[in-house]
Amino acid sequence: MTRRAGIILAGGSGSRMHPTTEKVNKHLLPVYDRPVISFPLEVMRALDVDRTVIVCNELDQASYADVGEWLGFADLRIATAVQASPDGLASAIATAMPAFGEEDFDQYIVTVGDGVYITGLDQLAEVGRRARPETALAWAVVQPHPHPQDFGVVTTTDEGLVTGVVEKPTVPPTSLVCTGLYAFDPSLLSRISELSYSARGELEISELLQTYLDQDQLRAIALGEDVLWFDVGTPDRLLDASAARREAVNQNAPSSHR
Ligand code: TTP
Repeated sequence: MTRRAGIILAGGSGSRMHPTTEKVNKHLLPVYDRPVISFPLEVMRALDVDRTVIVCNELDQASYADVGEWLGFADLRIATAVQASPDGLASAIATAMPAFGEEDFDQYIVTVGDGVYITGLDQLAEVGRRARPETALAWAVVQPHPHPQDFGVVTTTDEGLVTGVVEKPTVPPTSLVCTGLYAFDPSLLSRISELSYSARGELEISELLQTYLDQDQLRAIALGEDVLWFDVGTPDRLLDASAARREAVNQNAPSSHR
């Protein structure tokens, strides 16, 4: 049985959503009826992680202290870790590690906090069964997308081995985009410690992925086109995700609740 740790990256500055996110962190904004942070927590539950750490900014730590009771995730073991400044996703991952204490895990599930799966939790559970640490040291969950140029785009072999990841390409080589959900082996921390800060002053997750890619150890798992996934990092996409969530909720609600 694979013991899994979960890391939700919920820090950052959210500059594309200023002025709102100057006062309220993006992960606390609503996707229709639930705060954004609910959605990555659903992912952690679907992937059956043993412990979850939410990486956040200092101002938000109090909001997450009782997030299990607040949002209905009391079954998850959740801790928080404060990222002192928004210096990149790889840096945020490293920030989470001490919060796991002495416990050993076979795999670390990492997700961006603003990746919202409105549907597809059943497919994510299947991802959990397929993304075995014995098969590859790192896994990226990808999805065919109509606008791949706005995301990280992957190329793969027919067997799903990732051969390249290119960030927001003008001419996308494929339509497969990274959804910001990954599984890594326990070597990730030592890999991050060897990264250098990029020109924009961040430890980049793309550089972490590259270390696995260089060793032919990064595999992609594709979700179906039917899965409604949104990166809610802009006002437009937050609105789109809210509309999709409203439709999903109303489809499942008895008519008196509509
Ligand atoms: P981004 O959307 O790339 O960055 P951001 O949230 O700061 O927003 P903007 O680009 O508009 O300024 O971040 C992706 C996810 O990773 C998001 O859920 C926030 C999280 N994150 C961290 O936890 N720590 C960080 O240092 C950064 C940059 C992002």
